[in-house]
Amino acid sequence: MLRKILTGLMLVVLLFGVISCAKKEPTKITIASDATFPPMEMVDTNKNIVGFDIDLMNAAAKAGGFTVEFKNTAWDGIFAGLKDGKYDAVMSSVTITDERKKTIDFSMPYINAGQILTVRADESSVMTLADLKGKTVGAQIGTTGAFEIDKVKAASNIKEKTYDEIGLAFEDLANGRIDGVVVDNPTAASYALQNDKYKGKLITVGKPFTEEYYGVAVNKGNTKVLDLINAGLKKVMDAGANKAIEDKWLK
Ligand code: ARG
Repeated sequence: MLRKILTGLMLVVLLFGVISCAKKEPTKITIASDATFPPMEMVDTNKNIVGFDIDLMNAAAKAGGFTVEFKNTAWDGIFAGLKDGKYDAVMSSVTITDERKKTIDFSMPYINAGQILTVRADESSVMTLADLKGKTVGAQIGTTGAFEIDKVKAASNIKEKTYDEIGLAFEDLANGRIDGVVVDNPTAASYALQNDKYKGKLITVGKPFTEEYYGVAVNKGNTKVLDLINAGLKKVMDAGANKAIEDKWLK
């Protein structure tokens, strides 16, 4: 009798062990990112996705007790893929806007990165977008940079050219096919000021002319994923650990 009870007890203990082990398996969050946007997300020579966003999210995952997998995904369609459930989140230098908030939920903001205009280095008289009257300005399609051109193009008689990747816009700018590029300040600096290909050929104009905060996007109501991401991000930001990541990538 006693033996039966003991065996029974042992079985129960074993079962609980198995269950709690299974529970300890951390949640894996899959994240889409358009890795054509240095220094935030890009592909290195070993074909790994690297950059500020990747380091920040890995730190958040470590602090928050979950794991992440980045999936390199074209910007055009990145939110449609989120909606279709192809991944759990989008972390791709996504600006938190009221318009986007209608269809997606955002994490806490994690950095401020406004729009800035880039022109060829010999165009020293250009101060603002309006100075490019009659000229063509490029931006990545469906980005806040393109939205800024949309706002002024009619009044300033500017032609807009949109690109699938911002690198193609800088290429066209350097070659004289277009006359300006509007993109997030860190990415403009990366192409215009740090990339050996364009150093000395391109300049950014003044200071960023918008205030924009980046957030991680999830499907509306996906609090399970959003709470995990926010808890992790908060820990990293409260500890000031994001500063070292900023120093590493945003010099
Ligand atoms: N911040 C801008 C936006 O949200 C541009 C983001 C583009 N990101 C990228 N990885 N291509 O519209």
